[in-house]
Amino acid sequence: MNVFIAGGTSGIGYALARHYLEKGDVVGICGRNPGKVIENSFENLKIFQADVCDLHSVNAALQSFLAGDRNLDLFINCAGSYAEDVAGKISYEEAEEMLSTNILGTANCFEAARKAMKGQKKGNIAVIASVSGIMDYENSSLYTKTKRSVIQMADAYRRALKPFRISVTTIAPGYVDTEKLRQLNHNNLDKKPFLTDVQTAVVIISAAIENKEKLVIFPTKMKWMMKSLSILPSFLLNIIMYRKARWMKDDRP
Ligand SMILES: NC(=O)c1ccc[n+]([C@@H]2O[C@H](COP(=O)([O-])OP(=O)(O)OC[C@H]3O[C@@H](n4cnc5c(N)ncnc54)[C@H](OP(=O)(O)O)[C@@H]3O)[C@@H](O)[C@H]2O)c1
Repeated sequence: MNVFIAGGTSGIGYALARHYLEKGDVVGICGRNPGKVIENSFENLKIFQADVCDLHSVNAALQSFLAGDRNLDLFINCAGSYAEDVAGKISYEEAEEMLSTNILGTANCFEAARKAMKGQKKGNIAVIASVSGIMDYENSSLYTKTKRSVIQMADAYRRALKPFRISVTTIAPGYVDTEKLRQLNHNNLDKKPFLTDVQTAVVIISAAIENKEKLVIFPTKMKWMMKSLSILPSFLLNIIMYRKARWMKDDRP
């Protein structure tokens, strides 16, 4: 299988790349900082520099990967930007990066993958959203709102690409123990409920993709907690989610 992973230079994306490489697949990964990949002992790993916010850049990386008539079996978009923006302020630069990476970047990845797969009349596209995106309430964070957009964009592409036998899987994880999450939380993840280790996340994500599931929310406890909360009226959710966020922040250095 030929697998391309946007945002594959670290975290969940890189762990997924390793998973497919260990299965014997040929894997292309891209990110803005390919030098971040410290371990590159895999013969079948191709690394590209690309910014998902620039469609030409993603297309160029993908076309280089597919050079020599390689088919594209699976495209996974793991590129994403997140910050601690629930109970505090984020800078203009953080907000801009979040909006462009999570929304424009997602659209660009769908476009690049769609273009490559359309002629083949087969293929899978997967995108990493977030469990927070399944909730709809007025005061949700900017991050939550961008991830809600990712889920909705994926729904639209799923419908549009069905006639071309291209499936779309949306992944909505709860907290996954990655270096980025640790950096943002001063290496203290004690207050992240139902934290999933990255290897478990890879098992769940790859199984969902293989089974061509439409939407996968994990871990299960987080899924049911979010689903139960989402039936509450928006004003109540605003209060509960804000208090939860404050509690998570309170004992920070
Ligand atoms: N960890 C969690 O708890 C969690 C929970 C729910 C959802 N998620 C989502 O899962 C995804 C991966 O998160 P992670 O924790 O693994 O973080 P991460 O290690 O920071 O992974 C993000 C990846 O995206 C790439 N990237 C960011 N902006 C990009 C851009 N403009 N163009 C190309 N690549 C870009 C980064 O590489 P470069 O620096 O090389 O560009 C990196 O490879 C994100 O979408 C995140 O929102 C994470």
